[in-house]
Amino acid sequence: MSGDARRTFALAITGASGALYAMRTLAALLERDCHVELVVSDYGRRLLRDELGEAAAVDRLREFLVEKYGEPARRGSYALLSNKDLGAPIASGSHDCEGMIIVPCSMKTLAGVAHGLSRNLVERAADVMLKERRPLVIVARETPMSLPQLKNMVLCAEAGAMMMPAMPAFYQMPKTLDDLADFMAGKILSALGFDQTLYPKWKG
Ligand SMILES: Cc1cc2nc3c(=O)[nH]c(=O)nc-3n(C[C@H](O)[C@H](O)[C@H](O)COP(=O)(O)O)c2cc1C
Repeated sequence: MSGDARRTFALAITGASGALYAMRTLAALLERDCHVELVVSDYGRRLLRDELGEAAAVDRLREFLVEKYGEPARRGSYALLSNKDLGAPIASGSHDCEGMIIVPCSMKTLAGVAHGLSRNLVERAADVMLKERRPLVIVARETPMSLPQLKNMVLCAEAGAMMMPAMPAFYQMPKTLDDLADFMAGKILSALGFDQTLYPKWKG
């Protein structure tokens, strides 16, 4: 746990389609009063703007989240870390960060994690999660997938990551893109041990 007793998670946004998944996940963690160590790759930054517009620029994310999801998104705290800073707290296993989510995760970053490359902070922090045996949720996104990409998913799963491809379900009768994002964010929160209500549980 962090010094201020907030649950602390790392959240990485890379350049794969699905910026809305990242925003819903970040908002959900903040609503639960967590501290988020946020890293956005260069293509992650571009993705936020391409898919959500200028309002989702990384230096204005709090305003974007409050506007979209309401006042509860003001609750928690977050720190925006440089992907180039391999000396950031989450680059070390001694830092109190209890889990990490890469959402969305590009095939490039997936490959880097699968092979333990640690070329940037996203890859290094993911490597730390694996070596420390802490939860690492990887929301990989690409279609179709090549054999190397599929093998990289297997490597990550074998190393202990939870592979959670961006595959929203339709049994909860989604009506909007936000419904689909709620589903993925709810799955991520469940994987981290939160009791989530973002999408209705299947009742049979
Ligand atoms: C708008 C946009 C969407 C993209 N979507 C994907 C995607 O769904 N999956 C993927 O693997 N790469 C996708 N790419 C390509 C990656 O962004 C690119 O490979 C980049 O080098 C990934 O770097 P990063 O992992 O450091 O963010 C997309 C690029 C752009 C600009």
